[in-house]
Amino acid sequence: MAQPSREPSTSWISWLLGCFFDTLAGLLMRLLLGKDHRFFADGYGDLARCEELEGMVDKGIDVAFPDIHHMEWEDDTHGLEQQGEVSVRNASFASPCGAFTCEESKTAYVQVVAPAGGRHVRGVVIHLPQTGDMGYGFRRKTLGIPLALEGYASIILVGPYYGKRKPRSQRRHYVRNVAEYLISASTTFTEAAKLVKWAQQEWPDTHVCLSGISYGGAMAACAASILPASVAAGGVAVAPCVSSSSPKAIVGGLLVSQIDWQTLMEEKSHTRQQAYDHLSEILAARDLRELIHHTHTNAHVHVQGLKCVVTTASHDRFVVRSDGLALIKELVRMCGTVEEVWLEGGHVSSIARCTRVFVPSIRRAFQLMDGKT
Ligand SMILES: *[C@@H]1O[C@H](CO)[C@@H](O)[C@H](O)[C@H]1NC(C)=O
Repeated sequence: MAQPSREPSTSWISWLLGCFFDTLAGLLMRLLLGKDHRFFADGYGDLARCEELEGMVDKGIDVAFPDIHHMEWEDDTHGLEQQGEVSVRNASFASPCGAFTCEESKTAYVQVVAPAGGRHVRGVVIHLPQTGDMGYGFRRKTLGIPLALEGYASIILVGPYYGKRKPRSQRRHYVRNVAEYLISASTTFTEAAKLVKWAQQEWPDTHVCLSGISYGGAMAACAASILPASVAAGGVAVAPCVSSSSPKAIVGGLLVSQIDWQTLMEEKSHTRQQAYDHLSEILAARDLRELIHHTHTNAHVHVQGLKCVVTTASHDRFVVRSDGLALIKELVRMCGTVEEVWLEGGHVSSIARCTRVFVPSIRRAFQLMDGKT
């Protein structure tokens, strides 16, 4: 396959790869996960609560939420697992947004993958979960360990409402209402922003990169946008991979078939089209653009010290081209310049080559922070 380039691919192989695998994955999801696996089976939920949390984020996370004062490492004798050159430890901390989340999400869990034996850490990557990534395994194997072998530490976050932090009544990652979906988004990026500060204290004189695949990358970009200036000035990069700029991707791309439209229609006596428009409007109000607008006093959009490498699939059917381009545009506004990496193929074919295509983008983000061109 051709090397990644600075421009979208126009080759038919790329188109075919994107079209075939993304459509197939969409179909399989629909077939394998029946009616019980839908987003928003309980409707809209308590949107006022979600707005209260968003209002606090807008005030600035430095004043609105506590920092991570205490990272609780799992029992040391069992907690440290050497995998050759790499050490793996689990830890937890109190979520800064715990007052707004379900009981199960009040504690946040991370796995820290680092070069073993006290070797020098060249930089720290915070990996935010993509839709449905409930545990540590995928990100540890495909990104954490390869990066640790190059000298980078990784912090892998279990998202709120995911894995160990999932409410008992929730099936897999299908959050039960729209409000919880939005609360989990705000909580994810607030925790990520707080983790940046924590990482800077834990590994002084290294840089930190916020990254994530798909939805995780959107969250990484949101986290970067709410960083306090003093934290961003310490050298922070954002490297979203096949991401969009908003939670709206859920209605724009292939995930649209996984929403419980019937319930949403009934709750508001909407037609299907009205329900679609209403949900799209709620989600669009939460995209990166709006977040940047709320958290930065208009003139000072540009966050000093922030670098960006954005990786996009040329023929993505989950994150449609306009959403991918919208992310790039917002990142340009936020970082001044961004480095674009365009891959051949689509969403699924890119994630299948995760190590090969995303590790270089993360490595590049550190080079930019080191002042290399
Ligand atoms: C970390 O947590 C995971 C999932 O809870 C568990 O499977 C694993 O054994 C733990 N690893 C360590 C090093 O404690």
